[in-house]
Amino acid sequence: MRLNGGMTQQALAVVVLAAGQGTRMRSETAKVLHELSGIPLLGHVLATASALQPEHLAVVLRHHRDAVAGVVTDYVPDAILVDQDDIPGTGRALELALAALPSTFAGDVVVMSGDVPLLDSDTIQAVVDHHRSQGSALTLMSTIPEDPTGYGRVIRNDRGDVTGVVEESDANAAEKQITEINSGVYVMNRAHAHAAVAGLTTTNSQGEKYLTDIARALSSAGHRVSGVLVEDSWLLEGINDRVQLSEAQARLTRMTIRGWQLLGVTVADPASTMIDLSVELAPDVTLLPGVQLKGDTRIDSHATIGPDSTLVDTIVESHATVVRTHSLGAHICEHASVGPFSYLRPGTVVGVEGKVGAFVEVKNSTLARGAKVPHLSYIGDADIGEGTNIGAGAITANYDGETKHRTTIGSQVRTGSHTVFVAPVELGDGSYTAAGAVVRRRVEPGALAMSVAPQRNLEGWVEHNREGSPAAIAAKKAGKSKK
Ligand code: UD1
Ligand code: CA
Repeated sequence: MRLNGGMTQQALAVVVLAAGQGTRMRSETAKVLHELSGIPLLGHVLATASALQPEHLAVVLRHHRDAVAGVVTDYVPDAILVDQDDIPGTGRALELALAALPSTFAGDVVVMSGDVPLLDSDTIQAVVDHHRSQGSALTLMSTIPEDPTGYGRVIRNDRGDVTGVVEESDANAAEKQITEINSGVYVMNRAHAHAAVAGLTTTNSQGEKYLTDIARALSSAGHRVSGVLVEDSWLLEGINDRVQLSEAQARLTRMTIRGWQLLGVTVADPASTMIDLSVELAPDVTLLPGVQLKGDTRIDSHATIGPDSTLVDTIVESHATVVRTHSLGAHICEHASVGPFSYLRPGTVVGVEGKVGAFVEVKNSTLARGAKVPHLSYIGDADIGEGTNIGAGAITANYDGETKHRTTIGSQVRTGSHTVFVAPVELGDGSYTAAGAVVRRRVEPGALAMSVAPQRNLEGWVEHNREGSPAAIAAKKAGKSKK
């Protein structure tokens, strides 16, 4: 909807309100820093704000000031940071933000709440265009949610213009019956808004300066105040507590998954799948039930992930499979297979056609093409060469109690079950280790390393030392049948 396309070239500033305490979250973290799909609520709002390409972007801060300011400068390095003082309320926040905008700026101001994360820039742009075409002093975005409790109610006159907003806690019984609510997102003319905030008082049930009071002030001063009713009320849902946070997360997840499905990703069970917005997926990726993909994770085509896997900052190349795995910062190459029950930690590279199998933990290690660690092992700070097979139950003893050391294993090596590599240590190409070997010294190419003492059998030990025991009886029986 571009009601007045020509006018959208006018200057725009965005003010984001993020100074509130967020009491209802009951959290040590600022409300606007709680995350949805891996991005703080405020990050969502700032991304939307930036998409409007404003000339100025101001963010009002107070509670958890430095943590919030850090996120603001991450997303918008040249944002204007406005510190709210002791006077509480969204009205005071707006007053200070307007004062902080350069005095030369005379355009329209979009005001957004740091806690309304799902609203998109196209919807806001349409409201900006409407605001301009109507010549309004203030335009608020409203909606009719399933449950209006807690929101400010929009009061309109016979012509449909807005004459005021009344907060839930100040509303009388009749006003509480109004179902149209104020979303907390506005477009306003700077000069008119500036004049209106000057008259705000704290004489209300919460003892705060309400931004919403400028609606009545401007309307009574003869200015036009409009309300644009947005049908999809979820777009405007504010996050005040953790129930709303999880509801918004569920909706965003559904939308994200739908988007990937339409781009060719198979998602077997959307209800048990979570995908951060930063994740990249290729067509013909398959995600089985119970998969969480987080951070800078990338999955290439024909890879299959799951069931029940969490991948953080992990790259999975094409045709690889990852089953019941927890992976942080790993790189899994083409046609490799990982899991079930594998734990990959930062710096792990599983080579082309490589394998990390059941109950194997790998950290800061590279497996070259076709290298395999199939069973029950810990591989830390190691380099494993092409085509090498590490027998079941291998341990790299990489930590001497003070420092970590590397284990270097050549190509086409075969290690016996339960080998311990005491790092730093090196095994040459094509070498072997015997079962139970504790490898402390370099093994030359093609050598077999053994470190377990030769086996001795004490004949008749059980019958002498465990006379009459089930073992002794069985041994005796076996002895007779042999004769
Ligand atoms: C506000 C509106 C209400 C609307 C609702 C929509 C007012 C008075 N009420 O209520 O009409 O229905 O949003 O979600 O505006 N903030 C500051 N400084 C403050 C207080 C809040 O910057 O002193 C920020 C908060 O960080 C938050 C936003 O303003 O991002 C909204 O504040 P909040 O306290 O959540 O307002 P609501 O009670 O939800
Ligand atoms: Ca709110």
